[in-house]
Amino acid sequence: MSPLDLLMQEHNLIAKLTTIIKKKLPTIKEKKANACLIQKLIDFFVTYGDKTHHGKEEDILFREVGQKDLSDELRTILAELLEEHVQAREKLKKLEEANTEYSNGDELAYEKIIRVLEDLVIFYPEHINKENNHFFKQAMEYFSDLELETMTKEFAEFDRSVIHEKYKAVVSAIGS
Ligand SMILES: [Fe+2]
Ligand SMILES: [Fe+2]
Repeated sequence: MSPLDLLMQEHNLIAKLTTIIKKKLPTIKEKKANACLIQKLIDFFVTYGDKTHHGKEEDILFREVGQKDLSDELRTILAELLEEHVQAREKLKKLEEANTEYSNGDELAYEKIIRVLEDLVIFYPEHINKENNHFFKQAMEYFSDLELETMTKEFAEFDRSVIHEKYKAVVSAIGS
């Protein structure tokens, strides 16, 4: 599978969850969701959306394409995408903090959770749309077949490392 196909496949899953959240938001607002469901959403967006997906984009694709002689337009979009990843991490940090407060009995923190979810269901589709339609295909044209093949292998190694990092962190958290 090409690096482009792999990233698009991940976009599809992120977009699928975003659509589900969007549909469920009125119910989530009305009847409070349990902290466990919110924790699952956090886990998905942090481990899959950020560490696995944004991780491969930043540490491999963006790093490599950044070394090419990009058009001004593509270089501007690259900077915007990196900035959006920073924003995504800030939103997730807010979600984690609000869920911790909510789990600790602060009922008012639920409003903060809702606000971040409302924000995320707008943010992700826009970010994905920008990458799918204005960046990825154009960026891939700067690479040779061999470079793309190397990138696919690097992606696989990156994915493998994420799962090990994740569970090492889980064990340390349990042990602390
Ligand atoms: Fe991205
Ligand atoms: Fe992406």
